[in-house]
Amino acid sequence: MTDTPRWLLAPMLVAGSLLLGPQAVRAQAPERNGKAVVDEQCAKCHAKGEGGAPKIGDRAAWAPRMKRGMDALALSAIRGHGGMPARGSRADLTDGEIKAAINYMFNPASAAAAKAAPAKSAAGERAHRLVGGVDIYLGLMRAPERKGKGYYHVSIVLRDHASKAEIKDAQVEGRVATPMTGETKKLEPETVNNAFSYGNYFQLPGKDPYTLTLQIRRPGAPAPVEAKFDLKR
Ligand code: HEC
Repeated sequence: MTDTPRWLLAPMLVAGSLLLGPQAVRAQAPERNGKAVVDEQCAKCHAKGEGGAPKIGDRAAWAPRMKRGMDALALSAIRGHGGMPARGSRADLTDGEIKAAINYMFNPASAAAAKAAPAKSAAGERAHRLVGGVDIYLGLMRAPERKGKGYYHVSIVLRDHASKAEIKDAQVEGRVATPMTGETKKLEPETVNNAFSYGNYFQLPGKDPYTLTLQIRRPGAPAPVEAKFDLKR
């Protein structure tokens, strides 16, 4: 650059600032919140599930996608994916606005709450236990796709605490119970969008407090690992 003649530099700078123009202007505008972006644009398809678009507030449809992580999901929305046009056909949306919109569509209520109390922004937050060298992450999702009252999808992700490696070869049994009744089921290996977990459906009708007791058997381990969670819903 040092020996570039001055007369060449000037037009280059002009061209550079022209290229930066629209973004520079846009960056100064305040970011719209998730709800505003969704109402204005994303709802066109995501309100009714046009072309298989996951619907706003349908956590069962969003949860497996959210498991891929916000960055991956936002990238997919930014680039476009299947029937999903790049940036939802709104090239002027910033990455931050796209993420806010996704958070809002995943859980309109908690996105609103997160705005009121940013410290508690809990989208995707999972209960966690460390037992017998195994990190256990619990996910509990309402399952409106299942007929019958009060169905929830219970899923867990297991990691070896020492190596951080995901454990995919365990036998996992879950018992969901109140002091009065209970149901024991195997949690089946599931792979959704490349994310591995163990899961099954359980019925949790009424308002009773339920606990989930897990028995996790790893091949070669002398004894099963047992963990208990209170199911908050
Ligand atoms: C023209 C219709 C349309 C509009 C507008 C639209 N979407 Fe979508 N979107 C879809 C469809 C269809 C899918 C399902 C694509 C699939 O999974 O094959 C989808 C899927 C997605 C996904 C999941 C992608 C994945 O990899 O699983 C995200 C995230 C998303 N949309 C975000 C948005 C956001 C944010 C907006 C608003 C800025 C928006 N969409 C606007 C049609 C739309």
